[in-house]
Amino acid sequence: MTGQEIMNNKGMLIFGGTGDLAYRKLFPALYNLHCLGELPSNYKIIGIGRREYSNSEYIEIVKNWTKENSRLKYTEDDFSDFQKRISYYKMDMKNSDEYIELSTYMDSLELDGGVIYYYAVSPELFSPITKGLKKTNINRKSAKVIIEKPFGETLDSAREIYMDLKKYFKKDNIYHIDHYLGKEMIINIMTLRFENSIFKGVWNKDFIEKVEINAYETLGVENRGGYYDKSGALADMIQNHLFQIMSIVAMEEPEDSSSEAIKSAQQKVFKKLKKINSKKIDEILMLAQYNGYRDEERVSKDSTTETYAQLKVEIENDRWKGVPFYLRTGKMLSQRESEVIVSFKSTSENAHRNNLIIKIQPDEGVKLNFNIKKPGTSNVIEEVNMDFCQSCILDNRENTPEAYERLIKSCMESDRSLFSQWKQIELSWHYINDLIDSYKKYSNKLYFYEPGSKGPIENN
Ligand code: BG6
Repeated sequence: MTGQEIMNNKGMLIFGGTGDLAYRKLFPALYNLHCLGELPSNYKIIGIGRREYSNSEYIEIVKNWTKENSRLKYTEDDFSDFQKRISYYKMDMKNSDEYIELSTYMDSLELDGGVIYYYAVSPELFSPITKGLKKTNINRKSAKVIIEKPFGETLDSAREIYMDLKKYFKKDNIYHIDHYLGKEMIINIMTLRFENSIFKGVWNKDFIEKVEINAYETLGVENRGGYYDKSGALADMIQNHLFQIMSIVAMEEPEDSSSEAIKSAQQKVFKKLKKINSKKIDEILMLAQYNGYRDEERVSKDSTTETYAQLKVEIENDRWKGVPFYLRTGKMLSQRESEVIVSFKSTSENAHRNNLIIKIQPDEGVKLNFNIKKPGTSNVIEEVNMDFCQSCILDNRENTPEAYERLIKSCMESDRSLFSQWKQIELSWHYINDLIDSYKKYSNKLYFYEPGSKGPIENN
């Protein structure tokens, strides 16, 4: 970060400062940045929420979450230094009159510019916050906003949110965060694809049989039932995280390493997604819900929201025509595991398929399965593997920043390369909207699965 850029960053306002995301991800990430000396010395962090907390009560809560979730070692000394940056501000985010007082409060902290507004709230609050901020005298040129997914609940609401944001913030100061783009092994996919001739030449339909992108979780909806029940796995995970991964796996090599070139290559993939044949929706989409989901807090008793989804997409271009991409995600499954599995065509009936597995989490690494002759006199083919576990190496683990750490820092540096671009979001919403419409019209089948299982048995 250059000296000038450090000076430009004065603070962050977290709308949703008492929410799960702030506690679990944002404060631990900010604590890590603080410990690494990446935050400017007077940088302020204001948590905004509806609850009645004093500063010290709030800091105590933040402290416990930071202890539990920070990547770097928690120490009382570091935290007592870090906490000087933090304050709590209570307000009703829907009431636009209260933003005038907020701006007076910001003036009192000398936050007259260089501020990041972090929208860590559910999408229905995005527009009220933007409209409220319009009433203030906050420096618009330098103000940045980070907006959390889902960027709306439908394509129309996503557009409305974006249009509102554009009226207030400069287009280049709007950062749509998709924290998967900040994960080490997702950033690594491009290097793996384009810097290894053994993969580069065979990354197409002539050699690849299928691609699977899985993001499995063991946790349920926890205390996010209110949000999740309106969203579901398709909007919560597939429309954003999994589509982003798919577009990086599938894109053509970008013309250069600029953010624009990469985004443009990704965008072309979304434009070539095979049109949905509504009447055959069951062949490409399977939705399921874990037993017990309807008893979760703030979830409707007759909810039909999916907590598991499997989607098959195809990309209609020269590179990929006919190759299925399977995108799967689910909550309350037996294992937490996110990975990309690229399966190559087998060369003969006796040979196993070569699989390249890019492990995203919890382990980070790359594994390659290949065929070898079994030792001895027979000619039996055996499958063996090379396994590179990046996160098993202690130095790597300690030096790998958390996704949120990396992304907050990128935003402070005005580097947009790890953020989603509005055009991509629009295109992926388009697809998901069509998918949901077709599903509602021609299927509506919902399967069920046991918590702790591998998902619906119909899919196993
Ligand atoms: C979030 C989703 O974007 O990603 C959550 O809203 C999900 O429902 C989370 O649990 C998964 O993130 P990670 O980094 O734990 O894989």
